[in-house]
Amino acid sequence: MNTNIDEEIFEYLSSHLTSKRLEHSYNVANLAVSLAEKNGINPLKAWLAGLLHDCAKSMTDKELIKFFKNRKKNFKYFKEISVNSPHLLHSFAGEIITFEYFKIKEESVLKAIKNHTLGRENMSILERLIFVSDSISHDRKWKHAGTLREMAKKDLNKAFFEVLIQKITYVICNNGWLCHQAIDTWNWYVSNVKKN
Ligand SMILES: [Fe+2]
Ligand SMILES: [Fe+2]
Repeated sequence: MNTNIDEEIFEYLSSHLTSKRLEHSYNVANLAVSLAEKNGINPLKAWLAGLLHDCAKSMTDKELIKFFKNRKKNFKYFKEISVNSPHLLHSFAGEIITFEYFKIKEESVLKAIKNHTLGRENMSILERLIFVSDSISHDRKWKHAGTLREMAKKDLNKAFFEVLIQKITYVICNNGWLCHQAIDTWNWYVSNVKKN
């Protein structure tokens, strides 16, 4: 990996994101690093995935859809996400920017960025770590963020399941559209991980 990568990332993020989103990105990266070691995760991978997870966040819905169409990129739920909740595409675009612009080819980092919003079946520990850190970083002020931050220090999987519950509940309680990919994540976790 490029040794000047931190500088390059800072330059990119500070010119593409709002200051609030920039702060969030560093908070997620710092939290991810602090939780990485005790979960057997390489801290550099946690740092990069945390820092870059929202690198496409300031793209508009139209820009995101165009981004994929220009590249002729498609994936399982692309169409339904584009129609119902295009802002969710930022995590999929983030993976591509990380690969194309920063030349980061580490699969585990790319997957953690790609799946930070909806999760997926068979998520790695790094993917779960970024999914959790994104929702409970220090700038997050929602009701259970502080409690879940404490829980994550003790048991990352327990915190992951709680974050997943909160995210899905939020969508349902607000009459929102729930992507099949989030349901896939739920069913995978409940039937394969939680009961073991
Ligand atoms: Fe995000
Ligand atoms: Fe985020």
